[in-house]
Amino acid sequence: MKKIKVVVVGSLNYDLILTQERLPYKGETLYADDLIQGPGGKGANQAVQCAKLGLETTLLGKVGSDRFGDALIGSMQSAGVNADKIKRKGQSGLGLVNVLYDGDYHSTILKGANYTMNIEDIENETELLKSADYIILQQEIPQFINEYIIENYNKNATLILNNAPARNVKLDTLQLLDYLVVNETEAEFMIDKKVDNIDQAFEAAQQLHSKIHTTVIITLGKSGVVLKDNKNIFHVPSHEVKAVDTTGAGDSFIGGIVYGLSQGYSINDTIHFANHVSSLTVKNKGGSESFPLLKDCVEIDRL
Ligand code: RIB
Repeated sequence: MKKIKVVVVGSLNYDLILTQERLPYKGETLYADDLIQGPGGKGANQAVQCAKLGLETTLLGKVGSDRFGDALIGSMQSAGVNADKIKRKGQSGLGLVNVLYDGDYHSTILKGANYTMNIEDIENETELLKSADYIILQQEIPQFINEYIIENYNKNATLILNNAPARNVKLDTLQLLDYLVVNETEAEFMIDKKVDNIDQAFEAAQQLHSKIHTTVIITLGKSGVVLKDNKNIFHVPSHEVKAVDTTGAGDSFIGGIVYGLSQGYSINDTIHFANHVSSLTVKNKGGSESFPLLKDCVEIDRL
């Protein structure tokens, strides 16, 4: 069987994840219960989930020439991601994450080496990008890199943009994508209208799709997922689990989407599968280290 090739172009951050009851008020000092540290960054997380699901995954990105950079490269290799194309410069990106008792997370990132990526880094990898079946992008690297890739590599590969954190992207660039994936906050930014429930997500998906004519997927955490493509608009509920840490859940979901599509699942089954993958992720503390392997995703037998 042909090996599916996935190329993720994106960020690597060394994450420091604190669990605490709530965020501090101005001038207040709070205690956290514990610290989990390890690999993060949306690019790295999405690459790890694809690799853990058995897809041949290469990550194009940059880390610092520091100990965080060493740890990030090591953890990509241990997760089965091809890390040969990761370059090093300056200081690594960092993710400072607060996970609250309800499992919700708040994240602040230091851009670091992620923002030293340049067009030459991409031009040096033309062959790799041309050979990819799937190219996955997020917004934790310079915007011009993502635009360059979308505009130049939209012919052969299925192109997925996770517009996270949300940025304004030109409409004609968005129209070259195959999938746009956003959460409710990012959808809200893109349409400048509240997206707080399933009905509003239906409207948002409709509105975005009418402008970009590409499949729009809006993730709503425990309220599930809304998808609009050329034929359908539908909602898929999330799996009922006790979420202890939602760090990277959206990234794990995207890995699940790529797996489902690559196996020829229907779009509905693909969303069900991706929901299942991310529901396993939120059951455990930590970032990509809590992402499931393919063998853990028992629901696969149902599809
Ligand atoms: O999506 C989760 C990720 O967002 C974390 O790993 C953190 O680094 C931020 O980039």
